[in-house]
Amino acid sequence: MNKIFLKYNPKHKSPFVYQMFESLSAKYDLMNNLITLGLHKYIKKHAIKKIPIQENSKILDICTGTGDIALELAKNSSQETFITAVDFSPKMLDIAGQKAGTYNNINFIQANALNLPFADDSFDISIISFGLRNLDDINQALQEFKRVTKKDGYIVNIDIGKPSGILAPFIRLYFTYIVPFLGKFFGKNNFYYYLPLSATSFPSQEKLLLIYKGLDFKEVKNYNYLSGIIAQQIIRV
Ligand SMILES: C[S@@+](CC[C@H](N)C(=O)[O-])C[C@H]1O[C@@H](n2cnc3c(N)ncnc32)[C@H](O)[C@@H]1O
Repeated sequence: MNKIFLKYNPKHKSPFVYQMFESLSAKYDLMNNLITLGLHKYIKKHAIKKIPIQENSKILDICTGTGDIALELAKNSSQETFITAVDFSPKMLDIAGQKAGTYNNINFIQANALNLPFADDSFDISIISFGLRNLDDINQALQEFKRVTKKDGYIVNIDIGKPSGILAPFIRLYFTYIVPFLGKFFGKNNFYYYLPLSATSFPSQEKLLLIYKGLDFKEVKNYNYLSGIIAQQIIRV
């Protein structure tokens, strides 16, 4: 069982988040499959199909983790599409690199999402999947993503949403009690108590749309999956 060295501070999450992903990297994929009963893969596939990707696109995968999105993009696009995948956790990037194997159109780089090492207007599409929730400042992050994305390009966010309907209270119970238990039991990791905390404090789909509006994005489309447990926004820069 891992010891927790740093306390979670919602106003300055990144040291805690860094330590957490370094600690759970080896079991990250297993736990994702377990917690979502494999559904995260299906949703990621569908979410990627909704993105208007052109041939020869330059795509940035921010907070790539173990590389699921980067790999799915590589599988479904031509060799001319080039994917740059960044994360601040070296251990998550190691696993992503191993999974990427023979794909030579993905470049993995260690970088902080809030201070990306790229020139303005570098990418046609910037994607962040289950990452925005973990960043210290959503507005600052979106401005940074906007900076590196070409005008008329797209930013795509996929993350835990606020579900609606009769399932909503059961989902909350599942995240609050079952997920930390699964993390402790199967992941041998105490960090899974962070998931419900981060999901609860993350803005709803409606609030995110207001945040995007405040940052003068041209157009935003929201897609809900599983009654809004997961949501995707495709944002025109
Ligand atoms: C929940 S994982 C998501 C991984 C992957 N995108 C997916 O959809 O499965 C979040 C990732 O964000 C990374 N991360 C969190 N804060 C970051 C930051 N400030 N800069 C770069 N990466 C960060 C973590 O290291 C972790 O790998």
